[in-house]
Amino acid sequence: MKRIFNYFKPDFWFALLGVSFVAGSALLELYQIRIMGGIIDVGIQNADMPLILNMGFKMIMLALLGVLISVLGLIIPATVTTRFAHRLRKDLFKKIQDFSVKNVNNFQTASLVTRLTNDVDFIQRTTLMSLRMLVRAPVLLFSTVYLTYSTNKFLSRIPLIAVILLSFVMVYIVTNGFPRFIKLQEKLDGLNRKIQESLINVRVIKSFVREDMEEERFSEDNKGFYDASMRAHGLMLLIDPALMSAINFATIFIMYFASFLIIDSKVIAIGDLLVFVNYLRFTMFSMMMITHVFMMMTRSKASLQRINEVFDEPIDIESESNEVIEGEGKIEFKDVSFKYFDEEDVKYTLKNINFEVTPGERLGIIGSTGSGKTTLINLLGRLMDVSEGEILVDGINVKDFDLKDLRSRFGFVPQKNILFKGTIASNLRLGNDNASDALLDLATTTASIHDYIQTQDEGYDAEVQQGGLNFSGGQRQRLCIARALAVEPQVLILDDSTSALDAETEKNVMEGLNKHFKEMTIISIAQKISSVAMMDRILVLNEGEIVGLGTHDTLLENCSVYQEIYESQIRNEVSA
Ligand SMILES: Nc1ncnc2c1ncn2[C@@H]1O[C@H](COP(=O)(O)OP(=O)(O)OP(=O)(O)O)[C@@H](O)[C@H]1O
Ligand SMILES: [Mg+2]
Repeated sequence: MKRIFNYFKPDFWFALLGVSFVAGSALLELYQIRIMGGIIDVGIQNADMPLILNMGFKMIMLALLGVLISVLGLIIPATVTTRFAHRLRKDLFKKIQDFSVKNVNNFQTASLVTRLTNDVDFIQRTTLMSLRMLVRAPVLLFSTVYLTYSTNKFLSRIPLIAVILLSFVMVYIVTNGFPRFIKLQEKLDGLNRKIQESLINVRVIKSFVREDMEEERFSEDNKGFYDASMRAHGLMLLIDPALMSAINFATIFIMYFASFLIIDSKVIAIGDLLVFVNYLRFTMFSMMMITHVFMMMTRSKASLQRINEVFDEPIDIESESNEVIEGEGKIEFKDVSFKYFDEEDVKYTLKNINFEVTPGERLGIIGSTGSGKTTLINLLGRLMDVSEGEILVDGINVKDFDLKDLRSRFGFVPQKNILFKGTIASNLRLGNDNASDALLDLATTTASIHDYIQTQDEGYDAEVQQGGLNFSGGQRQRLCIARALAVEPQVLILDDSTSALDAETEKNVMEGLNKHFKEMTIISIAQKISSVAMMDRILVLNEGEIVGLGTHDTLLENCSVYQEIYESQIRNEVSA
């Protein structure tokens, strides 16, 4: 709670100003009713036209002033809370940016999205409502109780009793609402997850003609959300009718008692009664508002909890130092083991990995799918941390590096080649804002995509759609290679990055790398033996373990896994 308040603090005084306008406008409204009572009791009963006109004019002026004040009472709190949400979202986003793969696994993407949007949004709305209603309602409540008390002691008990009774109802609703809203939020997460999955995989779903099944599965989640929503909101729906009946019954009571008082003893004037009934309704309405705010607060408590969970998530991977370390980029894996989840019974994805890569070397990595190749190179850039053992770069544990410094040494071409919405140039400069045009030319020439870019009317400024969907798989791969080269990395890491290229283009890329980036270390994961055969050395992974390391020729002689892969691929080539 305190943490969230800190996001509010910079605007505290501004908020207070806004709140005072809210209180001011409430008082003005009450005062207007008073004047009206006066018009009836004094003006109308004495048929005093000048007095009526005079008072009427006063009311008009007050109404105009009221508009001004209440507009300010709306605008200022709205501004304050919007800014508050902006700050909160910014920090949340920043925190999530630091999440490692493990951290994200703990939450799941869809849930992070709801936390960043829905939950923040809800807290913002609650704060806005609180700023307005938690000021307006008590001001109305206390003024009314005081004013009715000063007009008629007996009658003032009626609103008091109603308020007390209503408080019990409110407490019941609020305590029962909380668990239901937590549940509702979870269902929303599930629904979002489902929608995300369907949208990401829409092509697959269509190509397998699984729309019906997807719809069915969506319906299930949707129904779950509907039920949770009904349970949560159904309870809340009781509030308004309950309050409205309370208001109406209280009015009837007062009218009833007051009629005796007016007729029998003339203790209360008609104008006073009017004022009184109006005040009463104001009070009750403010009670209604308070209940709404409490209800929202209950709900936002759930949101608050979910946001705090994100803030409290210990970042798996953090920079230990800020020093920039000089070196040529020698890489050593020492007894490295890794598993994705820390639990005892989870299997290791990588076991006892030991190898070295000398600067300038070309290392190929091959192995069947799921053997841990991607995991291995992700450890290198500290997207995750090793479970056991250590990884050294230039003799220093990667954990002792400044993260930015460490990662800037590597040019990653991820297996899922992702481009961002923007232009070709903005994508190429992703890792290096300052990349010169000449560097971009060099990178794209090397990646064999330069000619294609030149054929585009806008060249480097050609549009890239979200996810790079307006490019073919092979074009995307080459753009991703160029993007990694634009960082001028010490080590280029290719994760199956030539899989969508034909043999000719793949050869061109390799030749380009040898020609323009001779000094650079290259670690290249591939499925095809032909892609790694000419590498200095090849590392063979099988079920998370190294089963071979050497040149193509030596592996063909002494590594059975390599031989199997080789033979299956030769056989396929022949039969194809
Ligand atoms: N984010 C993740 N969370 C949990 N488990 C994971 C995650 N990523 C991969 N794994 C598991 O780790 C194992 C190795 O995956 P990895 O992606 O490293 O294989 P790979 O050798 O790159 O396969 P491919 O050739 O298909 O890309 C797999 O069994 C996979 O289930
Ligand atoms: Mg992989």
